[in-house]
Amino acid sequence: MKTTGNTDKFFKEIKDELKKGSTQKTHPFRYFTLGTVGLDHFVRLRTVVLRDFSEELKCSFYTDYRSKKIIHIKENNKVGLLFYDPEKLLQIKIEGLANIIKGKAKEEEHGQTIQEQSRKEYTTALAPGTPLKDAAPLEYLNEENHFCVVEVTPYKIEYLKLEQPEHIRVRFSNRNELWNGEFLVP
Ligand SMILES: Cc1cc2nc3c(=O)[nH]c(=O)nc-3n(C[C@H](O)[C@H](O)[C@H](O)COP(=O)(O)O)c2cc1C
Repeated sequence: MKTTGNTDKFFKEIKDELKKGSTQKTHPFRYFTLGTVGLDHFVRLRTVVLRDFSEELKCSFYTDYRSKKIIHIKENNKVGLLFYDPEKLLQIKIEGLANIIKGKAKEEEHGQTIQEQSRKEYTTALAPGTPLKDAAPLEYLNEENHFCVVEVTPYKIEYLKLEQPEHIRVRFSNRNELWNGEFLVP
């Protein structure tokens, strides 16, 4: 994955920080905001955990296959990801295409990294978002689970750092496997 021009160091910073977000539990990029827009045309936002950041810049998270975000992604796989580091005043915005991966192989590959309690979250008898009379107790399924992985392949990445004397804003666009970076007015 190559970039062109003098924006390279910002691209490297993005990759380094996202990698840390996927591997370090306390890193501010560990959690990000995922935006989806389904057929209803309403944007829906939620926090998810960055589980993996690959060499190809794919960002992965885990979810329940029955959740609204999956319905949205099936209707429209163009999604937005928002990362923010309040200490560095660094914001990364990603636009990408989401791919839902379900099945035993993926589950086993990622299974090692999921703790027992988290695993349980994908086995509720009722789908996420179903209204309840009371907060607890929840009923769980024994055999079945609705775990899936969503991989987002970015096609646009925007870097913004607020600093003095001037803020820095860089937009990276992917064309034919080549990332092109350009500075923007912040
Ligand atoms: C700190 C935090 C981390 C979360 N991580 C995830 C996650 O990794 N995957 C997920 O599906 N939901 C996660 N959630 C819950 C989502 O924010 C959201 O409420 C839920 O997935 C339902 O969203 P939906 O109805 O739009 O699909 C997290 C919530 C919080 C507060």
